[in-house]
Amino acid sequence: MKKLIVAIDGPAGAGKSTVAKRLAHELGYTYMDTGAMYRAFAWKVMQDEIDLEDETSLRKILSETKIDLKKDNGQLRVFLDEVDITDRIRTPVLSQMASKVSTLRAVRERMVELQRAMGREGGVVVEGRDIGTIVFPKAEVKIYLDASSQERARRRFEELKAQGKGINLKETLKEMEERDRRDQEREVAPLRKAKDAVVIDSTQLDAEGVMERIMREVRNKLSPD
Ligand code: DC
Repeated sequence: MKKLIVAIDGPAGAGKSTVAKRLAHELGYTYMDTGAMYRAFAWKVMQDEIDLEDETSLRKILSETKIDLKKDNGQLRVFLDEVDITDRIRTPVLSQMASKVSTLRAVRERMVELQRAMGREGGVVVEGRDIGTIVFPKAEVKIYLDASSQERARRRFEELKAQGKGINLKETLKEMEERDRRDQEREVAPLRKAKDAVVIDSTQLDAEGVMERIMREVRNKLSPD
């Protein structure tokens, strides 16, 4: 059967990860979390105090950095230079740092190169900000998943609370709006809906509802009649 590329873009907290994971499972495809790759590099920038102003050395560091997404026990693990850092990258500080490093052309070029190599053979569900526009402009299925900022902040807040992170809703909303603004206004590959993307607003829809909508698109591409 044809192996599609399913691209899911949208702002933070729209529900991309939940549906992308389920969709990949349902289709027997590989799940690619591109945000985790920016987070992994942001982690390295913080650990090694990398100078982001020096583009020549930044490019050299990027070319020598190993970032791998591996499936383990049905879960996606993120490896940076062979070290599993999955459990260290889901913090508000790393979210902001990932958003900051992702504005840099050198960083984006390297990540896009890695992502294209991973998705070369199709059979992938890829979530991010520039997947349908830049990384895989020929993806067969393109989804732009959105929701109101209040609802997105509420979901992210619940997620952080469940992880035992002490944070309040107001602070979560403020950080999220700041990050969205940066992701949408950056010069290189800003978050945009691809012209041919299907827009799904998940404010009033649960993951099941979103899945149904996307599966309809997938089935259409797999057997158009
Ligand atoms: O999806 P996420 O919240 O894990 O992403 C973290 C940051 O990484 C996000 O604020 C912007 C950046 N990012 C990006 O610029 N392009 C992508 N394809 C994915 C993430």
